[in-house]
Amino acid sequence: MKITELEGVGAEVTGVDLRQLTTSQGAALESAFAEQGLLIIRDQTLSERDHLAFAARWGSINTNRFFKAHPDFAEIALVGKEPDQVVNIGGDWHTDHSYDEIPALGSILVAKELPDVGGETWFVSMYRAFEGLSDGLKKLLVGLSAVHSAKHVFGGSAPYMQEMQKVARLGRPELADALSDPVHPVVVRHPLSGRPALYVNPAFTLRFDGWTEAESKPLLDYLYEAAVAQQKVYRLVWHPGTIAFWDNRATWHFAQNDYHGQRRMMHRVTVEGVPLEPFTGRPHKTPVNHRGPGD
Ligand SMILES: [Fe+2]
Repeated sequence: MKITELEGVGAEVTGVDLRQLTTSQGAALESAFAEQGLLIIRDQTLSERDHLAFAARWGSINTNRFFKAHPDFAEIALVGKEPDQVVNIGGDWHTDHSYDEIPALGSILVAKELPDVGGETWFVSMYRAFEGLSDGLKKLLVGLSAVHSAKHVFGGSAPYMQEMQKVARLGRPELADALSDPVHPVVVRHPLSGRPALYVNPAFTLRFDGWTEAESKPLLDYLYEAAVAQQKVYRLVWHPGTIAFWDNRATWHFAQNDYHGQRRMMHRVTVEGVPLEPFTGRPHKTPVNHRGPGD
């Protein structure tokens, strides 16, 4: 097994079969995931059961409330776009599930059907997004929390949900409307690495806690722009057998929508996370060695 750090964010993993992981391979993947926040694993042949078994290594599975489910496996969400559809799922910078009180750890996306060209998924690091800011702004942000919500995206009055419901790609908006909007630290102490990570995103963050939306918008917009501008975006080109496993607390992603007229179908399994704690400025853990043992 070979784990290669990618330019930008994440690590690429080759020379491994996720259906038959050795103990040392599993440990190396865990270290790489904690440190990099994104694993791109190539050349896999996973059935739905294999996909779920790999996900279960990382925690309990979060069955998506809004996405259309696989007809035979309720825990697998279908993230797809048909040739006659125009809108895609996840077509802006975001991190999944920040609207939950306990946001999901991350998702494991398996490519099932790909367009001939296009349909990349782009990623950026939220560790780097924070690291790139000035000391003064870091100090301000460490003391802040932010309010997140799903209602304007997945709620009953959200235009996106209404559009997607017509063709049964998303559903159950009442569950989004019933959620209470959680407050999360703006800078979290990453649960796996102990490092500070910026935890606001353009899709689901409404405002800083205690601030109005109008007061929050200029600073949030600055952070969103800086997060992407100050680092190299990793552009994942999918191939048959490619798997992406990202950490919602350490990355953002953006599904490109540039393959109109073609079908793209992905299977997504999401793993439950833990309550998020603020980064308090204490020294973080010694970085783990993410290099694989070469087996
Ligand atoms: Fe997403």
